[in-house]
Amino acid sequence: MNKNKIILGIDTSCDDTSVGIIEIIENEIKILADIREDQKELSLKFGGVIPEICARNHIEKIDILFKKALKTANIKLSDIDIFASTVGPGLLSSLIIGYYFTLTLSILNKKIFIPIHHIEGHLSVCNLSYPFLCLMISGGHTMIIKCISFGNYEIIATTLDDAVGELFDKIGRELKLPFPSGSYIENIAKNCLNFEDINKYIIFPTRGKLNFSFSGLKTKFFNLIPELSQENLCYLLQHNVALILKEKIELAVKLTDISNIVICGGVAANLHIRQKIMELPYVFSFPAINLCADNGIMIAFAGLNHYKNNTKFINNYNIDVFARKDLPLFYNL
Ligand code: KG4
Ligand code: ZN
Repeated sequence: MNKNKIILGIDTSCDDTSVGIIEIIENEIKILADIREDQKELSLKFGGVIPEICARNHIEKIDILFKKALKTANIKLSDIDIFASTVGPGLLSSLIIGYYFTLTLSILNKKIFIPIHHIEGHLSVCNLSYPFLCLMISGGHTMIIKCISFGNYEIIATTLDDAVGELFDKIGRELKLPFPSGSYIENIAKNCLNFEDINKYIIFPTRGKLNFSFSGLKTKFFNLIPELSQENLCYLLQHNVALILKEKIELAVKLTDISNIVICGGVAANLHIRQKIMELPYVFSFPAINLCADNGIMIAFAGLNHYKNNTKFINNYNIDVFARKDLPLFYNL
């Protein structure tokens, strides 16, 4: 059997339209194309992500971006061996576009189709052997997952209210920054040169407990806007978040006795947060900065893992798109 495979990964779970193509040759994986288009301008115009507008945009873009990806990868449609697409969690009207696009192509070409859980996609671009803990920090999710083996996952902590990326985005909106605001906040924070009494502002919601809570922090930061300069406020925000994440990682390691840790999701792109977390004496794996935010490459990697592990998701046409479903539940389907 030819071991070389070309895998397509498509993610349309929220507002980004992402198409990725990878190739595995022997045991080496090459990224052939990583095409994405965001809807920043539309989201900015409407003050956030509007599902109906996102879906219309995906319909307009998906075929164009797919053809661009084929061109970049210098391959033909018939060269693709495995078609993988996110089926959830996410916005239903957005998910169905990527899902049916990928599914149809796979059926017409008589090739393998694999439905992918978005979180597993994020996990798949990190490189650690099992068992490990995954701190998932994105705009839609904040959780710690105990990853025992491929497909065997247990959520041990989650957020009681806002996701951590949502906190960045909501503060960013108050500061009139573009959406999503995380990277803008990180850039502004670089101008904070002097913040002597920073410790008096730091708070630890749910201290000593595994679950996260960010809504108290959000209110506190809204109230601090008139008091602090924008540089100091942005620095304080990412610093306070970093300290909270550090505390939760320490608790999770104590509870599970697992000290190999993968950090993924859009917020994992923040260098200050990375640095602070890496002060802990554990083994860490972060995705490359460009693979932290939603992308098609991570879905292609997840597809490859399913193929290698010969899972029940291969050619499983019974899994429809879903708005919410935890990873362990997905595996129990
Ligand atoms: O993983 P992702 O692309 O989408 C979801 O699945 O949610 O994460 C997007 C989130 C947004 O909330 C964005 O503000 C945040 O990640 N983000 C950051 C940074 N880059 C993106 N947050 C903090 N610092 C950054 N550099
Ligand atoms: Zn994501």
